[in-house]
Amino acid sequence: MNFTEAKIRSENLRKIIERHNHSYYVDANPVISDFEYDLLVKELETIEKKFPELQTADSPTQRTGNDINNEFVQIKHKYPMLSLGNTYSESDLNDFDQRIKKVTGDDFEYVCELKFDGISISLTYINGILQQAVTRGDGEKGDDVTANIRTIRNIPLKIYGDYPAEFEIRGEIFMPHLSFARLNKERTEEGEMQFANPRNATAGTIKLQNSSQVAKRGLDCFLYSLLGENLPHANHYDNLQEAKKWGFPISQNIQKCQTIKQVIDYINYWDEARKKLPYDTDGVVIKINNTAQQEELGFTAKSPRWAIAYKFKAEQAITKLLSIDFQVGRTGAITPVANLQPVQLAGTTVKRASLHNQEQINILDIRIDDMVIVEKGGEIIPKIVGVDKSHRTGNSKEFEYITHCPECGTKLEREESEAKHFCPNENGCRPQITGKIEHFISRKAMAIDGLGIETIELLHKNNLINNVADLYDLKKEQLLPLERIADKSAENIIKSIEDSKNAEFQRVLFAIGIRFVGETTAKKIVEKLRSIDEIMMANQEELLQIDEIGERIAQSIIKYFGSQKNQEIVQRLRNAGLQMEAKKTTDKISDKFKGLNFVVSGTFASYSRDELKQIIEQHGGKNVSAVSASTAYLIAGEKSGQTKIEKADKLKVKIIDENQFNELINK
Ligand code: IVH
Repeated sequence: MNFTEAKIRSENLRKIIERHNHSYYVDANPVISDFEYDLLVKELETIEKKFPELQTADSPTQRTGNDINNEFVQIKHKYPMLSLGNTYSESDLNDFDQRIKKVTGDDFEYVCELKFDGISISLTYINGILQQAVTRGDGEKGDDVTANIRTIRNIPLKIYGDYPAEFEIRGEIFMPHLSFARLNKERTEEGEMQFANPRNATAGTIKLQNSSQVAKRGLDCFLYSLLGENLPHANHYDNLQEAKKWGFPISQNIQKCQTIKQVIDYINYWDEARKKLPYDTDGVVIKINNTAQQEELGFTAKSPRWAIAYKFKAEQAITKLLSIDFQVGRTGAITPVANLQPVQLAGTTVKRASLHNQEQINILDIRIDDMVIVEKGGEIIPKIVGVDKSHRTGNSKEFEYITHCPECGTKLEREESEAKHFCPNENGCRPQITGKIEHFISRKAMAIDGLGIETIELLHKNNLINNVADLYDLKKEQLLPLERIADKSAENIIKSIEDSKNAEFQRVLFAIGIRFVGETTAKKIVEKLRSIDEIMMANQEELLQIDEIGERIAQSIIKYFGSQKNQEIVQRLRNAGLQMEAKKTTDKISDKFKGLNFVVSGTFASYSRDELKQIIEQHGGKNVSAVSASTAYLIAGEKSGQTKIEKADKLKVKIIDENQFNELINK
């Protein structure tokens, strides 16, 4: 096997294995035996060993998590997972210090740690191997999320050194700011709701059913407590330092303190310094270092007496709510936004705050003219966290949420599973129209850089563009009379629109703005379905065969192409000359099929129809759609066309299945 052959075979094998994983884990409906499956994996391993450059990070031979559709199993904690008492002031801390001294006397030591803002996790290691990862749950029992946790890169699957045969280690899983920003950006591009803060994003991620998705979300972890019978040291600090040597991620910022004054200094330092950390912290945890003293102090029903959390104050300000605006996004989602009397908060002037949805307004009972408390927590945009009702006058009224689109007047809809209202008037509502065009021209889509948001709005206002297809009908003469468009820029616009006709098909598919179909999803689809026609014709079942496509995305694709308006737009884009199919891979492998015509019909276990056609071409063969006397082979899969088979029979054309086809190539 030469390099090109190995490349093609390994790519095909990966797809085949992934598909069988899906059948096995997600559909719980395996198509082949375990033995046959193992053979496929072995074959891939052999190729990857021979040509290491062909090994990809997402190869099924690597650790990427699996697709087990596990409703999580509940596990009882060996040691209950308690919470911590909270304090908010120096005097609370002094009280805590006094309580400790009463029990232990003066001879003790504190350990201060940052309080990471994420989701707590308990990991069990047996003989140095990660056995189990369980969430806090209700403290008594939690969810077994081992498959997901195994994908977090800094959690060791195996540890090294002199560790106890069995122990638990607990800590916090969190999403660093960078991962959070990237995730929300992707979600916006795919028309999904953003996560409000990294903590929610972490919680959502840990509960995903598909661990290969978790692997992509960039979670991180710090561990902060070691539990078990034969721990190396009789104090918390040294145990953590030891755990660090075994390979666990332990924070650098742990500090021993001799007095409560030193504790307060630590808190004051980190209250400022935390703003520069690449992840969220919401306080400091103060623990008694010595294990025997911890035992002496013991527990209340809910929390240990030997530890306490000091919560940082989120920066807050109080100001007047002037009005509430409603923004309409490209997908029609409605977001209420509060207009505030400008106020200073965490170094910036705040004039607007997000309100998320109707439910939040109702829960807080927010009314116009209220004095509201705004807070800048983990979120980038400040939020309203409460109302100071003492300022209310007698004539304030409950806020009535809108029922109709503020832009086009259409009655709003709200699906049960969604928190937000939507304007269904996709093709007639201004921000949805311009938003879709903006998305279409954006850098990762068609990259039409002669156009900007303002120009799009101007063109729409002048009734020159109402959808993405209209862009391709624009003429320079239509642009010139518009204010702000000079001869040169009109030329640029027309030229960059013209250039976009060369953009690859996967960009076009992303650009047309099918909800939930982001850049990566578009790419995955095009790997399998090579033209817009194939995508339009694919049914739910076929779409679900595609890597990373679940029911929600499949339905969204079907819904998009089910709309006559969208079909028209696609047709006009096609007529304008946009790329509506993927470029053929022309890597020649052999001339084995030279002069032979093939007809491919039905579905196959190991290939998509397009893969088969690609392989035929790579071996010099030609694909034709109808069986005739000049057809060499009809490759018939499951549910292949009966008329094709009958015709082939009549014309004595050889009918083969995919195994016979494999034999042909390998001959
Ligand atoms: S020690 C007995 N240390 O804060 C509880 N907790 O309510 C021992 N947390 O659920 C917890 N950073 O998820 C501890 N350095 C740290 C922590 C920490 C964050 C979380 C943890 C716990 C909650 C306390």
